[in-house]
Amino acid sequence: MQEQHTAIAIDGPAAAGKSTVAKIVADKLNYIYVDTGAMYRALTLKALNDKVDPSDDDAVLDLLMNTNIELTNDSTGQRVILDGKDVTEEIRYQPVSANVSYVAKLSTVRQEMLERQRELAKDRGVVMDGRDIGTHVLPNAQVKIFLVASVDERAKRRHDENIAKGIPSDLEQLKAEIEKRDEIDSNRETAPLVRADDAIEVDTTSLSIDEVVRSILQEVEKYKDKQN
Ligand code: DC
Repeated sequence: MQEQHTAIAIDGPAAAGKSTVAKIVADKLNYIYVDTGAMYRALTLKALNDKVDPSDDDAVLDLLMNTNIELTNDSTGQRVILDGKDVTEEIRYQPVSANVSYVAKLSTVRQEMLERQRELAKDRGVVMDGRDIGTHVLPNAQVKIFLVASVDERAKRRHDENIAKGIPSDLEQLKAEIEKRDEIDSNRETAPLVRADDAIEVDTTSLSIDEVVRSILQEVEKYKDKQN
């Protein structure tokens, strides 16, 4: 019998803690971790550098078809390689954050990203985080989690994270940008941010990272028990 590989989809709004917990869950299970937001961010960085309008469907798709985005792992975590250059830090900077939702709105771009993301998840255990993983990219994922948290808490977390990484950060500006991104991500036509019917919602506002990780691992255990 062919081995069944488990896919865990973690979706939710900006800065809800998806990547932090997804990375830990992937490590614990020895699965690969795929941060799909990093792919949209890398493309946005390239568009900005190449002076391509982030809302121009044809131009951005053309750019993507000539773009190589690799997600690699080292001891510091996941590295994002754009056309051979490490852009892990650069894709978190404000100009990218402020423009990425426009790129992520483009339906032809999303279709190409979806294919690349499915390819990355093929034939192995995977934890993938994003906005449309449980609804579109991996609709057959065995475990689907939808992480939410209050906007104040999310802005604060992203702010603390930026400070720790030495990235310039302004709390109020972050909050406004997170709200704006949520609005664009939730209201776009193609694959909007929405909880899959079969996803388990976890409100992380007053939970520690450990507690969120534990609740996801419990869901994985439940799924595995059902298989036995
Ligand atoms: O998770 P993040 O903040 O790095 O995501 C950056 C942007 O990309 C955000 O505006 C939502 C979008 N995105 C998306 O539309 N679909 C995904 N699967 C992942 C991210």
